[in-house]
Amino acid sequence: METTRTIADVRRVIGTPRAAGRSVGFVPTMGALHAGHAALIDRARAETGCVVVSIFVNPTQFGPGEDYDSYPRCEREDLAVCEAHGADVVFAPSVEEMYPRRSLTTVHVDRLSETLCGADRPGHFDGVCTVVAKLLNIVAPDRAYFGAKDYQQATILRRMVSDLNVPVELVVCPTVREPDGLAVSSRNRYLSAEQRRQAPALHAALQQAAAMIRRDAPPAETVIEAVRAALADGAPDGTIDYVRVVDPETLEDVQRTDRPVVIALAVRLGSARLIDNLRVDPPAGAS
Ligand code: PAJ
Repeated sequence: METTRTIADVRRVIGTPRAAGRSVGFVPTMGALHAGHAALIDRARAETGCVVVSIFVNPTQFGPGEDYDSYPRCEREDLAVCEAHGADVVFAPSVEEMYPRRSLTTVHVDRLSETLCGADRPGHFDGVCTVVAKLLNIVAPDRAYFGAKDYQQATILRRMVSDLNVPVELVVCPTVREPDGLAVSSRNRYLSAEQRRQAPALHAALQQAAAMIRRDAPPAETVIEAVRAALADGAPDGTIDYVRVVDPETLEDVQRTDRPVVIALAVRLGSARLIDNLRVDPPAGAS
């Protein structure tokens, strides 16, 4: 495995396998790698000939007062994870390498970026889209791997790639969870023991809602009320940012649940802001 720090270097290193006809799989991350990231690397390893992982805590996607400074940075452990999961190349640039001067260009995906987490984190998805566009231009992968845990992010990036004709196939991989259902996240480490005990209520509430939808497809409003009640019960120390039932592609609120929907939620527990979601498809044969 080779660790690269500059754009010129990563391009040079990837050039060799590419010239030999190997496809390139790319997993962009902010480091603090865990089982969720590892699953993306494994998938890229299984599907492509040269696996590139980027580790870059991107300052432009953090808002004022967010956790940019305290975001966990543990490169030595991260490199060990990359190596163990068979990555060929790690790209770990400095902020100066990625942003040598103030960028005058921002990639903004309209509408999809303003809803859900975008409403609470203005500018966040512009930062994500811009850095991912840069990374895709630097690495030029055949496939790029993202997690369904950040459903809105994956949806926005899919649209960006399509709108800008970026020649890459996006692969969205299932959310990796702890045994009790909590979605694995770098931010789970901010939870106290008591908050950690309450955190699985997010996934439990989503599962309960999915069962409700599969049973009798009630109006979205009824589903949302049930999720809020389950959260109040299971995670009483949490503050709900949002619970929404949305169309899987447009991310717009829906009223009906007799067609595919995504239930998405964000809950603050102490200093951690936890997000989770579940896609629910109507039972086969339902109209
Ligand atoms: P980061 O939070 O490090 O996540 C990197 C990738 O891992 C994302 O695609 C995310 O959806 C995926 N991921 C995180 N937790 C997961 C889990 N439990 N199961 C499956 N996949 C999971 O997302 C970012 O970084 C940044 O916004 C980035 C895209 C790198 C741009 O800076």
